[in-house]
Amino acid sequence: MATPHNEANKGDIAKIVLMPGDPLRAKFVADTFLEDAVQFNKVRNMFGYTGYYRGKKISVMGSGMGMPSIGIYAHELYTQYGVEAIIRIGSCGAYVEDIHVNDIILAIGASTDSNFAHHYQLPGTYSATATFELLEIANQKAKEQGCNYRVGNILSSDVFYSKNSPVEKWAQMGVLAVEMESYALYTIAAELRKSALCILTVSDSLVLDENLSPLERQNGFTNMMEIALKTAYEYI
Ligand code: HPA
Repeated sequence: MATPHNEANKGDIAKIVLMPGDPLRAKFVADTFLEDAVQFNKVRNMFGYTGYYRGKKISVMGSGMGMPSIGIYAHELYTQYGVEAIIRIGSCGAYVEDIHVNDIILAIGASTDSNFAHHYQLPGTYSATATFELLEIANQKAKEQGCNYRVGNILSSDVFYSKNSPVEKWAQMGVLAVEMESYALYTIAAELRKSALCILTVSDSLVLDENLSPLERQNGFTNMMEIALKTAYEYI
């Protein structure tokens, strides 16, 4: 049973899915870390694969960029394919000076400049948060891995190129970094009573003169991928 955006049949996809933004990063994770990986989706080149990590079935699929894109794929994974948990493995831009490229952020919550939650018609502002059990495991795995990481609030923005950079205003509220997907993923997971966590690698800084090349972005996120895989392994 396919959807307009995913040609997989039910059963092709594991209960837990890692989601990088870039479909080629999904291929990289499958090629590098999964055994017996089988591709389940090619629609719109949004590649998805299911394989085995230390004997446990895990899937990895691209989300695309932005909240509408991850919103479509996550909703379909949760509602059509029996997925219980999604771990986003993405990149972000640092908003504070003590966070550097290649550092990792576990997003306990996501703030937003988006109107994404408007369609729920809530009488206030929705706070999008990670699933605590996933965050707790990821925190442990990141600690064991010995990498530089922080747990905190991030901004999910609808705008990549902004004339009115909001960095200082968000940073004054303790927001560590910006990306474009987590708020939607956390909100959809909450609505559907599913689990979600966003693990981000800092690819650039909006307050320091640091950034990663596209090739480094695609291949250099090994620490984050290993934290996500170990978290998925323990969670399921
Ligand atoms: N802005 C938005 N999303 C991002 C960025 C950024 O600077 N870096 C990585 N993802």
